[in-house]
Amino acid sequence: MENGSRKVRVKVPGSTANLGPGFDTLGMALNVYAWIEMSIADQTIIHLIGEQMNGIPTDKSNLLYEVAQMVFAKAGVSHPELEISMYSDIPLARGLGSSASAIVGGLAAANALIGSPLSDDTLFQMATELEQHPDNVGASLFGGLVVAFWDGERAEHIRIEPDDRLEVLVAIPHFQLQTEKARHVLPREQSLANAVFNVGHSSVLVAALCTGRLDMIPRAMKDALHQPYRAPLVPGLGHILAEATEHGALGVALSGAGPTMLALVERDSSRKAELERFLLDTLRGEQIEATLLWLKPDKSGVQVLTHFDERCTLFENIKGEVRA
Ligand code: HSE
Repeated sequence: MENGSRKVRVKVPGSTANLGPGFDTLGMALNVYAWIEMSIADQTIIHLIGEQMNGIPTDKSNLLYEVAQMVFAKAGVSHPELEISMYSDIPLARGLGSSASAIVGGLAAANALIGSPLSDDTLFQMATELEQHPDNVGASLFGGLVVAFWDGERAEHIRIEPDDRLEVLVAIPHFQLQTEKARHVLPREQSLANAVFNVGHSSVLVAALCTGRLDMIPRAMKDALHQPYRAPLVPGLGHILAEATEHGALGVALSGAGPTMLALVERDSSRKAELERFLLDTLRGEQIEATLLWLKPDKSGVQVLTHFDERCTLFENIKGEVRA
């Protein structure tokens, strides 16, 4: 085969978007992953491994297949038949970037399969266009913290190395919330006061993250543009946003469009158990069951895996790494 590998595997992180005031602009990759394997085949076969994949198409309407074809079209090559496998630990429709990880993983795998003719920037532009916001896809692609904007034509970003003292506690409710639904509740227009509030808080939060001023996070990680409108969709969110910093969180936010809630926590904090209890008690008080997960920022972004045993299936190769 010309300029490419027989079979490629990629590992792609999930992410949080809208970090506090950074609505559609501030994302962070998290160490919860999806793995995708792709090869050129005689006939298209798509294996989606795991219960949460039930209902996702396994024909040529599959997102991974579609984004791979976009890469091939852009690179001027034709590979209409593919064998694709995917396993994901990133919960679907919970605000942890599962669709962005599929887009970025599919783009990166297809690009690697044909010898990587497309640059990371081209993949970022394609991913943003597909996802319509640059923060989840930027984080999955580049890792770390990504500050980004998209003007409808080009996306621009700067990656920030996450502070090693930062850990993340996510509370993942046992219900799904589609981004489209959570976007629909937002007002089409906002006041100047709300705009100024978010510009100021987001600017200070980014500066705090760049300079290691963790003490500023509790004051800067606040939002007026989307969380107040989405709170009715996530029972308990309003209380958690108002009080989590009094129970050991540096800052707290709705992760992406929700329903997951995310707290930044200092690694050496002695109040982790208190914060866990506060989150679970608050959610239980609203009859919401949730899973808590301690995560860390992922610093690598999407990785093309070069050392794997081609004789093993994707799942056999990764089973030591998956969370399930
Ligand atoms: N920023 C998006 C939103 C979700 O809040 O609707 C993440 O893509």
